Order: sequence, then structure tokens, then C-alpha cells
Amino acid sequence: MNAPVSSSLNTTAGSSAASSTQQLPADVAQPAAPPPTQIKTASTDAFLKDFTIVAEAAKRAQVAVMVRDFESCGIYAPPPPPSPHIPPRRRTTAIAIAIAIAIAIAMSAAAQDRARLQQAFAALPLAAHGPRWAALYRDAFTPWDRAGPSLALADLLAQRADLVPPAQDRDARGSPVRDAPRRTALVPGCGRGHDVLLLSSFGYDVWGLDCSADAVRMADENRRAADAEGLYAPAAAGLDKGDVRWLTGDFFDESWSAGIGTAGSGRFDLVFDYTFLCALPPEARPRWAKRMASLVHPKGRLVGLEFPSGKPLSEPGPPWGVNPEMYEALLTTPGDDLAYDADGDVICTASPQPRDDALHRLSIIKPTRTHQAGTAEDGTVLDFISVWTR
Ligand SMILES: C[S@@+](CC[C@H](N)C(=O)[O-])C[C@H]1O[C@@H](n2cnc3c(N)ncnc32)[C@H](O)[C@@H]1O
Repeated sequence: MNAPVSSSLNTTAGSSAASSTQQLPADVAQPAAPPPTQIKTASTDAFLKDFTIVAEAAKRAQVAVMVRDFESCGIYAPPPPPSPHIPPRRRTTAIAIAIAIAIAIAMSAAAQDRARLQQAFAALPLAAHGPRWAALYRDAFTPWDRAGPSLALADLLAQRADLVPPAQDRDARGSPVRDAPRRTALVPGCGRGHDVLLLSSFGYDVWGLDCSADAVRMADENRRAADAEGLYAPAAAGLDKGDVRWLTGDFFDESWSAGIGTAGSGRFDLVFDYTFLCALPPEARPRWAKRMASLVHPKGRLVGLEFPSGKPLSEPGPPWGVNPEMYEALLTTPGDDLAYDADGDVICTASPQPRDDALHRLSIIKPTRTHQAGTAEDGTVLDFISVWTR
């Protein structure tokens, strides 16, 4: 699930800490279900006997077909081969099949990780979510970690100066103005901090916030390893890297933002959300919108890399599905509850009245590249990237 990482961006290519074991964290394990009651009667005995005969016959037929198929493509041959030489065509077929099997195993591991993550949050009250994320980091179960920064954000910063405030003001020749204060950025729910490091390489003074102390520790380890390898170098000539600061705290708690950000205002010139909104259960979305809107500086921008786009909103998370309509309904009426239809889609009511605290969408873009998790098998990008302003 690692994102492809462009070397020209000097981005990190560290390995994912994801684990594929199926156990819940020790302190979040569910009580074992009681064994199913055995009900046995004469008629079920007869049925089971018939069923066993049919199943055995089906198994034999299946094995016969598999042996025939394997023989025909050179995977299986009853007598031992007379020489170790494998004809090239057979070798190619065998390699293709081995690759297909490896892909199937990896896909099944990813599906198991998704199921384990959803199970960890099933029916969990919101107040228990923070400790649950922390427990998952403690257990080194982090299947959401992409092992690298969001290339869709890198492209936006590099190519769409019209949409995002520059980290440093520039003079008439386009050079960063020396000694001008750097603009600030915030990544809530930063995890191992890949996007924090990316924003710093574009010159922003960045704060990475996470409720898990282990995530923040891992983020700082990630930063030190990246520094040692010379990754996340300044993204443009003449640009200084911005400062990086980590915070452990609850996004919804107002205390962590006091006195930081742009001129100590508790607000930021650029706030980036990737896999944070989708990590919150639906009932927390209005509070997410209200807090987000309060964290964006009056001249600032919120950038959302919208994932998972296309997942029905009615399906369980995390990650819970998102879509552009949901972002718009949330951010134009921060703090207000949304109404959903049976599919989980937002019911759009009349246009909201203009509000001082609302954010408005400046642009919505289908990025040309994004994480593998936001890309369909045929290479189609599923994510959107949206930019919001006051
Ligand atoms: C799905 S993970 C995404 C992490 C990161 N954005 C990434 O791309 O790797 C969601 C993150 O949000 C953090 N988180 C969840 N609820 C939070 C809260 N209320 N305050 C701060 N962080 C929170 C979790 O600890 C976790 O690191």
C-alpha cells in the first residue's frame, strides 16, 4: 500500500509499519463468542452423510481439474522431470502464476487489515476513539500509513500558486523575500508525519498534531531518519525549509492551538486534511467542520485530499467514505448536523444562508497522481483534492 515516491521531490521511501496479524490490540480485544450449540438429529445425520459424499466427489473433481490445468501449463507433472531444465514458455507461465498468487495473498492481507481496523472501532463511543488509535499505534498496526507524502499535495503546492498561500512572499523576480515571516501550516491527525515533512520542504512552519503519543514519537523518528538521508530538501531554489513541531492532543480540544500558528493567533495559513475526516465517525463530522473552520486563518486555506472517494457513505469505517457533496455541506454550515438518505448520502437542503464562519470551495481537482490507495486498478485516480477559503 506504499505510495510511489518521486525521487525528484526528495521524498521519503521508508517502509510501512503495517502489520497483517488478525488480533485486536490486547487491551481492545472483544470477549470470545460462546461456541455454537450443536443440534443433531437422525435426519441431519443422513443429510450430512449425503452431503459429505457429494462434497468429497466435488473435491476430487476439483483436484482432477486443477491437476489437468497445472499439467497443461507446466506447474505440475506427475513423473519427476527428467532434467532440471524448464522450457522458457513454462517458466514464464510459472512466474506469472507465482506473481498472481503473491498479489492475491497481498490483497487478502489488505482486506484482513481493513476488517480488523473496522472491527476495532465498531460500536465504539466517540470518547473512546482516541485511546483506540493510540492502542493501534502501540500494537504497530498502522495499515493507513502510506510510507510517504501525498504526491497530490506536492503537485498542488508546486503547480497551483493561485490556490494556496506561498510559504514565503516573493519579490518581483520571484525570489523568496528574506526575513519575511514564513507562513504556517497544520496537519491534524498527522500519523507518522509524512505530509508535515513535505510541507516543511515547501517552506511552511508546520505543526503536526496527533492524539497518539506513539504516532508523534514515530513522526519524530521519521523526521530524523529523513534528515539523515537528506530527504525532504527545499522544494525550490532559494527556499528555506520550514520548522517542524509535533503536538500530542485532541483535535477537538482548543487548548493545543493557543498561542501557536500565524502570529500566535491559533490559526494557520494552510491546513491539510488527509485521512483525518474519514477516520472520524459520522456523528463527529459537524464538530470536525466547526473546528476546521476555526483553525483556518482569515486569509488561509483548507486543503482536503478526499479519500476514500467512491466508498458508499453508508458502509462502516474507518475509513468512512467521503464525497464532495459531504465536504460542501459540512464546511458551508460548520457545526450543523447533516441529514443522510438510506445510502448514507447527504440530503442537500436549500442553499445555506451566508455565514461568517463558513468555508467556501475555491476549487476541486482530480489530481494526476495520488497514493495507490486512492487509485483504481486501471490507474484511474479516485481521490479529489479540494481547496477551501473564507
Ligand atoms: C487514518 S489515520 C491517518 C494518519 C495520517 N494522516 C496518515 O496519512 O498516515 C488517522 C489519524 O488521526 C489520529 N486521530 C484520530 N482522532 C484524533 C483526534 N481527535 N485528535 C487528533 N488526532 C486524531 C489518529 O491517531 C491517526 O493517526
